[in-house]
Amino acid sequence: MTEVAAESAPRPAGVEGESFGPPTDREEVLVLDFGGQYSQLIARRIRECGVFAELLPHGVDLELIRARKPRALVLSGGPASVYESGAPALRRELLELGIPVLGICYGMQLMVRDLGGRVEGAEKGEFGRTTLTLAGDGGRLLSGLPAEQQCWMSHRDCVIEAPPGFTALAASPGSPVAACEDTDKGLYGIQFHPEVVHTPHGQEILQRFLRDVAGCEQGWTMSSVIDEQVERIREQVGSGGVICGLSGGVDSATAAALVHRAVGDQLTCVLVDHGLLRKGEAEQVVANFREGLGIKLIHIDAEDRFLEKLAGHDDPETKRKIIGEEFIRVFEEEALKLPDVSHLVQGTLYSDVIESGGGEGTATIKSHHNVGGLPEDLDLDLVEPLRMLFKDEVRAVATELGLNDRMVWRQPFPGPGLAIRIVGGEVTKERLDLLREADSILQEEVRAANLYRDLWQSFCVLPVVRSVGVQGDGRTYAYPIVIRAVTSDDAMTADWARLPYDLLERVSNRIINEVPQVNRVVLDISSKPPATIEWE
Ligand code: XMP
Repeated sequence: MTEVAAESAPRPAGVEGESFGPPTDREEVLVLDFGGQYSQLIARRIRECGVFAELLPHGVDLELIRARKPRALVLSGGPASVYESGAPALRRELLELGIPVLGICYGMQLMVRDLGGRVEGAEKGEFGRTTLTLAGDGGRLLSGLPAEQQCWMSHRDCVIEAPPGFTALAASPGSPVAACEDTDKGLYGIQFHPEVVHTPHGQEILQRFLRDVAGCEQGWTMSSVIDEQVERIREQVGSGGVICGLSGGVDSATAAALVHRAVGDQLTCVLVDHGLLRKGEAEQVVANFREGLGIKLIHIDAEDRFLEKLAGHDDPETKRKIIGEEFIRVFEEEALKLPDVSHLVQGTLYSDVIESGGGEGTATIKSHHNVGGLPEDLDLDLVEPLRMLFKDEVRAVATELGLNDRMVWRQPFPGPGLAIRIVGGEVTKERLDLLREADSILQEEVRAANLYRDLWQSFCVLPVVRSVGVQGDGRTYAYPIVIRAVTSDDAMTADWARLPYDLLERVSNRIINEVPQVNRVVLDISSKPPATIEWE
């Protein structure tokens, strides 16, 4: 989670299959998760083919699946061996729903074993890039693809023999049967991972399964998401008032814009400006929302309140707690002033839903990202219009709703803001201004070098230590600024970005020349793990 609006108190998320409300006539595919590393990615790739896909735990209630009327099922990979005791099993009914099923890796092995084929443990297994060779014409699933192609494998057990009624479609050095199908029963299996980019024809294979096998019409687009959500929000909210806390980031902004599209002036946005935002950020949000989108926005300048509360504290957890609590207090005061508010908008994303339990039960939102939660005693109903979307889909929706590019592509920023980037010391106005200035120079130069979108995050950190330097004729005793820039896909792991030397030089010169109180600029070259992205 990257935004205030998403930093709600932990709540039960993704109760099995009910996360997106009652079934609609939306065309959808369900991906049953057997614990594979790439399960989320399968859902994303299916969506890229214009078919809504949702990830559900492999043990999800059969009735629920039937009620959703999916066009097809996909069984994901998983870390277990089909012969291990306690390994996730496949319920036979899943293969008898009358819809096509595609098993991937472990999903294929389960299907093959249960239907009478042979799966055996192998000494070495296959990991990484592997050559796939078609047998015959490749059958319904693979025909027309190159007779030899690269694919991505990650398995130890392998299929030696397809079940009766199946045709083997391909092999690889470590998998005598690397793909198979029974077109009469609508059952398909592939040992490799079509969802990762290292399988160049993977997307084509998924596309074929969805279009030719499952008969999908592939009409799921971001504008259909908007239409669907607008209708759903109207139904949920009725004539009530809605409030939304904005953080400056894309999630809360998009959620707000969607709700505004649905219920117009029933929505009031609140920007709690805790004085810990980046340079010009609050002003940009105000301009984009009020002038750009015509959305009612209350901008509360609460800097003094936050700084007063933070005075004298240098422990990161304490800072987070203070900011979280104060945030709630300010937000609550404002909410209580508005007449007839019945709903609260949150920018929860699908990855938050999955991370926080994703359907397996209770929520365990990463506690350090949970600033403190929004007011419980306000007793408001939650509106979470992005709950089904991945981050890149949110960006597409945002663009379609008219948010400006700067907002749409903003790098993640922690809810407690710059306060956690002042490390080992108290948060004061002077230090915040200094850090804000240095940070804005970095942002400016990174943008000018056209690298902003390539980086997951780029920011400055202020360690509260001072050291001696020399400037002009005199000695200085001033702070260092740390540059932290990382590449990442999801913030779970990250690598330090190899910024060009000339960019680093410009940033360093400018910060030292333009920001008084700074006499050194240093670069953080740690990856995550073992470091984290933020310093705090
Ligand atoms: P770390 O530092 O744990 O951060 O590697 C991972 C990602 O989470 C962001 N982050 C936060 N996001 N509220 C948020 O919404 C927070 O309190 C918070 N703390 C860290 C961080 O910027 C990085 O993208």
